[in-house]
This record gives sequence, C-alpha cells and structure tokens, in this order.
Amino acid sequence: MEILSFEVLPSTNTYACQNFDALADGQIVLAKTQTAGRGRLKRVWLSAEGGLYFSLVVKPQNFKIDFLGSLTQAMALSVLKTLHSFGAKEAVLKWPNDILCQSKKICGILSQAVFKEGGLCGVVIGVGVNIAQEKIDSPKPAVSLKMLGIEAKKEDVLKEIINRFNIYYPQVCKQGFKAIKEEFLKDFPFVNKEIKIVVDKKEFCGICHGLDDKGQLLLDDKVVNIGDME
Ligand code: BTN
Repeated sequence: MEILSFEVLPSTNTYACQNFDALADGQIVLAKTQTAGRGRLKRVWLSAEGGLYFSLVVKPQNFKIDFLGSLTQAMALSVLKTLHSFGAKEAVLKWPNDILCQSKKICGILSQAVFKEGGLCGVVIGVGVNIAQEKIDSPKPAVSLKMLGIEAKKEDVLKEIINRFNIYYPQVCKQGFKAIKEEFLKDFPFVNKEIKIVVDKKEFCGICHGLDDKGQLLLDDKVVNIGDME
C-alpha cells in the first residue's frame, strides 16, 4: 500500500488532484487533519484529529465514464464492510455513498474525476471516516467508532478498507454498479420506505424502490442520479 502521509493538509483530495500526474495508480494520500476538508455538493468536511482522512488515486485503463459513480459506491461498500468487521454491526449505507450508524453519519466520500485533453485520466476517491473523535461538532448528527464504544487504530481501518476495495475495483471497472448491486442493497435499509431527496434545495418525497444497475435511486416513477437523502 503506497501511503503519502501528512500531519496536516488543506484537503487530501485537493492535494491529490493538484499532484495527480506525479502520483501513481493506487497511491493513498493521508492526513491527520485537514484545514479545508471538502464534502459533496460544495459542503465542508470538518476534519479534526481522530478521524481518518485519505484520498485514493486510481488510474483505470479503458474505463467507461458511466461507471464513475460505481467506483465511489464500491468504496462505500468497502468502508461499510470494514466498519462491520470492527464491530459497528449496525452501520448501513445511505444513497449515494454515505454510511450511517444509529442514523448518524460515520463516513462520507467525495470522488473527483480528473480529465486531461478531453479524456478521463483517473479518479481521486476521498474518504472521511469518524474513528476516534470524542465528539463531533457538525450541523448534522455524526458519530465516531469511539462514540459507539469501539476502539480501532486508523491504520488498521485504512488497510482493511483498501484490501476490500481492491477486490471490488476490478469487478466495478468491468461491470459498473451491477457487480456490487446485490451486496449494496443488503445494507441499504430504505427500500419500500418513504424517503426525501434534496436536489438543489428542492425536495422530492416518495417511496424508494431500490437502485438501478447504474446505482441510481428509484423514487416512485423517477430515476434520481444526484442529490442527497435526508
Ligand atoms: C461528504 O460526505 O460530503 C463527503 C466527505 C468527504 C470527506 C473526505 S476527507 C478526505 C477527503 N479530502 C477531502 O477534502 N474530502 C474527502
């Protein structure tokens, strides 16, 4: 496992995107804390000491652009299975790629595609997992492994996430979300439930009918490919 480790960075994703050409396929950029951690939909990711903050650089060959989202979902599944193995048995997936424990966020993922000369060069998959924080000051409910009573070493968690991702990665490169759909749905407890999706401050409520083969959310008669489940 190739790890480039920092005490502090503005954001491991920003670093990996800015230095993309110099970083190898499979490189991990790790920081103890981030001063400008980035979340999805232009949000901030609070990155105090105790959390695991890393970005994985992947440079797949002949990669279908349609499969971009499934790389992130494969990472979500890898983190989920890792959290289960460390004892957080109640961890579940929230579409598109968050992980919740007791309805509180424990992991978020932000992927950024890197394009050059019109073509895709690779993807930076940024992962934040709450591990050893005693408390988390965030506008939305959040929890760490420690707050759940679980002690874990960040390096061990990282190692396991990457080992698991390395199994899903070739499958997803070949087949997209379809390769992991069944496993993903096993820990996605929102099927046949009423849910709310927020896209650009607009709210859509409806019954969730699962996910399609591209990892998009099926909400009543709509197919949703971007947004946030509330
Ligand atoms: C989200 O839930 O909105 C995604 C959060 C992603 C946070 C991680 S922490 C490591 C990497 N670097 C960043 O700036 N963001 C991601």
